[in-house]
Amino acid sequence: MTLAEEIKRRRTFAIISHPDAGKTTLTEKLLLFGGAIHVAGAVKSNKIKKTATSDWMEIEKQRGISVATSVMGFEYRDFKINILDTPGHQDFAEDTFRTLTAVDSVIIVIDSAKGVETQTRKLMQVCRMRKTPVMVFMNKMDREGRDPFDLMDEVEAELGIKVRPLSWPINMGQNFKGVYNIYKEDLNLYTPNKQTVSETIEFKDLNSKELEGYIGEKDAAKLREDLDLIQGVYNPFNVDEYLSGDLAPVFFGSALNTFGVKELLDCFVEIAPSPRAVEAIERKVDPMEQAFSGFVFKIHANMDPNHRSCIAFVKVCSGKFERNVNYKHVRFNRLMKFAAPTAFMAQRKETVDEAYAGDIVGLPDNGNFKIGDSLSSGEDIHFKGLPSFSPEMFQYIENADPMKQKQLQKGIDQLMDEGVAQLFVNQFNGRKIIGTVGQLQFEVIQYRLLHEYNAQCRWEPIRLYKACWIESDDAAELENFKKRKYQYMAKDKENRDVFLADSAYMLQMAQEDFKNIRFHFSSEF
Ligand code: G4P
Repeated sequence: MTLAEEIKRRRTFAIISHPDAGKTTLTEKLLLFGGAIHVAGAVKSNKIKKTATSDWMEIEKQRGISVATSVMGFEYRDFKINILDTPGHQDFAEDTFRTLTAVDSVIIVIDSAKGVETQTRKLMQVCRMRKTPVMVFMNKMDREGRDPFDLMDEVEAELGIKVRPLSWPINMGQNFKGVYNIYKEDLNLYTPNKQTVSETIEFKDLNSKELEGYIGEKDAAKLREDLDLIQGVYNPFNVDEYLSGDLAPVFFGSALNTFGVKELLDCFVEIAPSPRAVEAIERKVDPMEQAFSGFVFKIHANMDPNHRSCIAFVKVCSGKFERNVNYKHVRFNRLMKFAAPTAFMAQRKETVDEAYAGDIVGLPDNGNFKIGDSLSSGEDIHFKGLPSFSPEMFQYIENADPMKQKQLQKGIDQLMDEGVAQLFVNQFNGRKIIGTVGQLQFEVIQYRLLHEYNAQCRWEPIRLYKACWIESDDAAELENFKKRKYQYMAKDKENRDVFLADSAYMLQMAQEDFKNIRFHFSSEF
């Protein structure tokens, strides 16, 4: 196969959902279709059990599973599929944001009884920012859920994207009879079954009396009426609108019952994008370029203190990556080669000789990489698009053991490079502030500093509402702002100016008083 053919057949995506909507179940069923696993129940959920939230070691143990399932590669039809897993626990949402920078498309799972939930809303913001094509799977149709038309409206309003059903349910819950697959024009009849595929009947003419034979008079009439309405309300499906991130095709099904999953997957491989061009500061990088380039989007530390190595996950952006070939670590301006790069096939980690644009390779690492680092065949290229988002929780971090100041400093630096949390240094008093998405991350940091760096930290409360990255075309106003708010000014790891607002009110006042300053809630603007 040529380089271009290899790259074109790749589909790299993530499944996102609010916890419990069915992400793990859907992932597992997709792997079943790809022949990557043979029985349901083989994929361990990396979901953190609610009972264990106070014991973070237990959480890490559970999270450890996620290394194995971080990337799941498998072959389906003529396609090479890479599913990137995202942590289920919202305290690790920042990990998910970064993973979304490494995918070419996304499948969103929604619980049809619950509709759009908070976590989904947040993750969709990132997809919208990046114009990532998304497809929606309305799950749990075997349960009593909400009216499908209401769900469509809700997705459109809450996720800020146009929708277009490509399948439509016939009833739900106990009376669920299946779906009409609008994309393929066939009828998928439902039999609850956790292991095998449902029955599919080609059915182009819905006015045929045969429909009554399959689903009964009442449901046949309702289905015809619903589909008429769909044709009236929604424009015909246009794949370009999906690819530009403006329209989300919607499928209905039940992941647990393996229903509607194959239909989703078949449509997905046909229309989802192959690796897309990636923006670098210098230029746009096309996946088909011969020269290799890629960036680190995730670093997974080994939790065992005796084996302190990490795995740096690299998304190949262009060309072909090869084992034992020298590549440039752009930040170090140094050549490096990798004897044991791994790929993730069917849940096994294997050493690979080559990987193509769209693939993810895992590089064993001893602290050489940080999130966002670029590798290339020689070009000085810096990939964009690994934004930090304003954390939701903040605490001062203090040294609790004066003899270990250096260790603490090193530990904090490395953990921040790994992307565990964000560090801000207050410019007024020099104190270090750690910002996280959830309480758990503070516990993780404290534990890891002690066990991996032999350093002890102490947390001190600070009342902050948001961290905003600020910029302005008016240098004088920016200076004036920094002077006026000097107590609230900090620098992030990249030495960028950050304004720490202690309340929504304070932020609003600042925005009103300084009209020429732009306040950003993410570091990429
Ligand atoms: P998540 O990764 O998005 O957090 O969700 P997960 O797949 O773990 O699914 C959450 C729960 O919803 C699981 O039940 C799962 O069995 C159930 N589920 C998933 N898909 C469907 C579906 O199509 N229909 C129905 N009725 N349930 C579904 P659980 O009881 O929390 O876990 P388990 O003990 O079954 O594993």
